[in-house]
Amino acid sequence: MTRVLYLIACAAGPAQFVDDGVRAAQADGWDVCLILTPSAARWWEPRMPDLVELTGHPVRSQYKLPWEKDQLPKADAMLVAPMSCTTLNKWGAGISDTLAIGLPSEAVHMGVPVAAMPYFNRAQGAQPAVARSIAVLREQGVLVLDGPDGYESHQPKQGNPRAYPWGNAVAGVRRLVAGG
Ligand SMILES: Cc1cc2nc3c(=O)[nH]c(=O)nc-3n(C[C@H](O)[C@H](O)[C@H](O)COP(=O)(O)O)c2cc1C
Repeated sequence: MTRVLYLIACAAGPAQFVDDGVRAAQADGWDVCLILTPSAARWWEPRMPDLVELTGHPVRSQYKLPWEKDQLPKADAMLVAPMSCTTLNKWGAGISDTLAIGLPSEAVHMGVPVAAMPYFNRAQGAQPAVARSIAVLREQGVLVLDGPDGYESHQPKQGNPRAYPWGNAVAGVRRLVAGG
């Protein structure tokens, strides 16, 4: 049976091209379910049906209501990409006010492999909270792809969100799932 990957995207530049990320993960054999932060969902509002068609699943961005059933199949792995500075720091502080944080923050403590690849500039990354949050995520077993094998942050105003290396993110998940 095809394994299920939750691809969780925040409102950072490459979220505009998250369909590329979906296709990269699908090409690696994953059944991809897409979860967007509420801010990222706003960016896709006019084109949400395209993502539903591409993934074959509802695209989630809000916590369900208490009486609603789960809409997505159980995840075999999760990838938070692009991970914004805001989501990184909220997650590191234990705040899960979005479904996009709630899912991976619990899953990593339930034996589900979780990877995260950031996208923010060096000025954002210079905030002391960023290094602390990355360390906190790593302590919990999250594979944070913030170096040469993942995404190395860019100078302010010099980002190229279209060139976000989705392949590195998918390769990271592959290594994680293989236990490497
Ligand atoms: C056009 C635009 C581009 C943005 N790009 C980034 C980015 O690349 N990285 C980042 O960390 N935040 C970026 N932000 C700021 C985030 O969208 C903002 O911090 C938001 O609260 C993130 O929320 P989320 O993590 O729940 O999606 C951008 C905002 C806008 C309006």
